[in-house]
Amino acid sequence: MTERLKKLCALLSLCKTFADVGCDHGYCTRYMLSRGLCKSAVITDISAGSLSKAERLLENYIKSGVCRSVCCDGLSGVPEGSADLVLIAGMGGEEILKILREAYIPQSFVFQPMKNAPQLRQYLLERGCAIEYDGLFTETRGGLVKNYFVIKGKNSGGTRAYTRAQLAFGRDSLGTPQLAALIEYELKKNTAYASGELSPSSRAEVEARIAFLKEVLSGEAG
Ligand SMILES: C[S@@+](CC[C@H](N)C(=O)[O-])C[C@H]1O[C@@H](n2cnc3c(N)ncnc32)[C@H](O)[C@@H]1O
Repeated sequence: MTERLKKLCALLSLCKTFADVGCDHGYCTRYMLSRGLCKSAVITDISAGSLSKAERLLENYIKSGVCRSVCCDGLSGVPEGSADLVLIAGMGGEEILKILREAYIPQSFVFQPMKNAPQLRQYLLERGCAIEYDGLFTETRGGLVKNYFVIKGKNSGGTRAYTRAQLAFGRDSLGTPQLAALIEYELKKNTAYASGELSPSSRAEVEARIAFLKEVLSGEAG
């Protein structure tokens, strides 16, 4: 398993039925089943080719009836209430949002959006979800540091409002060295844009972003 998958799996907790939506290789489900962290599992993927990789990996669990495999879009093959923990990882936040809007927000979830995490946070908060962990982890591959936002929570019991900085970067990322490094990088990128030719509206946008990033970095952002 890659460093990303190991860190992601460490956030998965004990459950009865685990569902891995967009499972691709199936490693997360093998992690859950092989450690007895779930009694049964459902693997889904919209691509039959991707799903077949997981089916090969989990062949024995499928044969023994412990794991069910469904080729479907999003949660359409996982009836509401049939899985008490759902993982949706490695796809864009917009795609995760589309899946949730077309179906339901699972009872317990771990979402790892590759982009557009703020939109996903906003939606979960608006729908009353209790966010238990909303952080950032890194993976170093080929000398490059990659950042991944991860959101773990439940579909009810949410009472906390987020600040703008929490919405942008995740409540539990703020103040961490990982986020500081990410913001420093974004600041450099935006400062380079700002030194080039820009329309007045683009310049205003870039300068506002720089000001916001500096506030987040200094811990002053609301
Ligand atoms: C980059 S892989 C991530 C695999 C794994 N979840 C991970 O985190 O390593 C994304 C997978 O999601 C699947 N996928 C994309 N959109 C989907 C959807 N709407 N419903 C189900 N699977 C989807 C793709 O076919 C692909 O196998």
